[in-house]
Amino acid sequence: MSANPKDLISLSRGDGTSAVVHLHGATLLSWKCKGQEMLFVSKEAVFDNKKAIRGGIPIVFPNFGPWKHGPQHGFARIKRWDVEHEPGRDVNGNPTVSFSLCDDEGTRNMWNMKFKLVYTIVLEADSIKLTLTVENTDSIIYDFTCLLHTYLATPDVTQTKIEGLEGLSYIDKLQNGEKCTEERKIVKITEGYDRIYKNAPSEITVSGLDCKSSVKINTKLFSDIVLWNPWEKASGMSDFGDEEYQTMLCVEPGYLYKTQEIHPRQVFTFNLTMTRVQ
Ligand code: BG6
Repeated sequence: MSANPKDLISLSRGDGTSAVVHLHGATLLSWKCKGQEMLFVSKEAVFDNKKAIRGGIPIVFPNFGPWKHGPQHGFARIKRWDVEHEPGRDVNGNPTVSFSLCDDEGTRNMWNMKFKLVYTIVLEADSIKLTLTVENTDSIIYDFTCLLHTYLATPDVTQTKIEGLEGLSYIDKLQNGEKCTEERKIVKITEGYDRIYKNAPSEITVSGLDCKSSVKINTKLFSDIVLWNPWEKASGMSDFGDEEYQTMLCVEPGYLYKTQEIHPRQVFTFNLTMTRVQ
């Protein structure tokens, strides 16, 4: 199944550097940097405007993981977002676009809180800047978790190297939530992963994504990082090709180890900037 062009918004710098966003979930489907596609989208991804899109960068809010009030990873990735600011240029001349999502009857039936999310994408020459603001438009305090579920593309996941996690505590969801410490300077993926790294530094590097480049991942306020690769479990997922786990790696900056309390009218601004380094 392919996406309906009417659901897509594109940005381009005209040198093979572009971005494509699907309004369903404001899911960033493609980030091309000088002709190189940096994001993975499964060939089996479903574009029915109901199911979360399997790939790109789905937005997780207001809950990471299984949720007593609604679907896993919350509803932001399965709602249609509005265009807040039409595609244009920022003060530096970079292509940019903003999307927004507010509570509605459907979200309040699951989770009776009022909010406004704004998601801004800025396409720079070698970087993509993603900013998610969460505003409490309600009159009560509540809490949330959020995450950018980033699917990176790679020709061979076993050749990817993640640097910057050494010394961090993590929860290994594949070992019944066992708490561990990362001992390795360079993390390599040679089996299924589902780990939550706590208090990650504001910069980590993923190399081996293609023969020429690595990606620097810089964050603000996203204090945790999830590493996920389903490995053989991919064959049990209807929207994931059986062998595609070899060509992707999820590196997901989020705020999820603790919940974030937010007061009426308070705004939190989370940033993820990915830079291709050659
Ligand atoms: C990751 C979780 O963020 O997302 C995994 O840590 C989960 O546990 C994965 O399996 C994919 O989730 P979903 O809901 O998109 O299949």
